[in-house]
Amino acid sequence: KHVAVLLGGRSPERDVSLVSGKKVIEALESQGYQVSAIDPQEADWMEQLKAAKSDVVFNALHGDWGEDGRVQGVLDYLGFAYTHSGVAASALAMDKQRAKAVLREAGIQCPEGQLISRFDAAREHVMAPPYVAKPNAQGSSVGVVIVPEGANRPPAILGSEDWPYDEEVLIERFIPGRELTVAVMGDRALTVTEIVPKTAFYDYDAKYAEGGSAHQLPADVPQAVFDQCMRDALTAHQALGCEGLTRSDFRYDPVTSGVWLLEINTQPGMTPTSLAPEQAAHCGVGFPDLVAWMVENAAC
Ligand code: DAL
Ligand code: MG
Repeated sequence: KHVAVLLGGRSPERDVSLVSGKKVIEALESQGYQVSAIDPQEADWMEQLKAAKSDVVFNALHGDWGEDGRVQGVLDYLGFAYTHSGVAASALAMDKQRAKAVLREAGIQCPEGQLISRFDAAREHVMAPPYVAKPNAQGSSVGVVIVPEGANRPPAILGSEDWPYDEEVLIERFIPGRELTVAVMGDRALTVTEIVPKTAFYDYDAKYAEGGSAHQLPADVPQAVFDQCMRDALTAHQALGCEGLTRSDFRYDPVTSGVWLLEINTQPGMTPTSLAPEQAAHCGVGFPDLVAWMVENAAC
């Protein structure tokens, strides 16, 4: 089989995607697939894709364009089968605040939040700290600002001309406690990982620097918390109509025993430090088998 791997692109997560894509290509080649790498940053990427005459597209993009349904729409239009979720699920999951309405409807607890102009968010607190201010539709923690308890003023960066993200930001209640994540592969939740960042927060560097964070899997949390994360991740995957591989990120507050779903990622990282492939390996599905499963389950 011939697989076209889409990688790079033009989101702030371009570099992450290049790393995911490289690992995916190596794994596909080791499984005997013929591979063409296509970078959707290039103006003629669609021509390259058509010329590659592949049977399946492996989408190794992250962030806007690649993860938010727009590239998926192009692939539908061109008639390609592709990995991961389709247009509607991708677009909805990428819109963190609006996805929460669907997730709550499915019975999942999500933190309260609101979408407002970043200039308004920079002027005065729109909720009592602690809260989180972040781009509503980015990944890898880019642009995330934690406003700690007792902060006098909202973060100035939100009103600055250095802010490269959307004009609209998500202001969301900060959930104290621990960071948990669950990958779903098809109809199966894999396991729960606890992420213990070496920095105060699991930011971009903690995500991708070798040794930037420790992953404990399976997570050492009460059985009820473990089970709830597994159930919620599968429910979220199904409620949004996701396909293939996803990963749902949670906060667990040990003081209240509350489990909160922050978001579901429809294009989880496939880098050497990434969480979903690590969970698959823990369940006996090594990286080459994981990517082969994704290719064989790709839908039109
Ligand atoms: N946005 C990154 C790639 C992730 O969710 O793993
Ligand atoms: Mg994300």
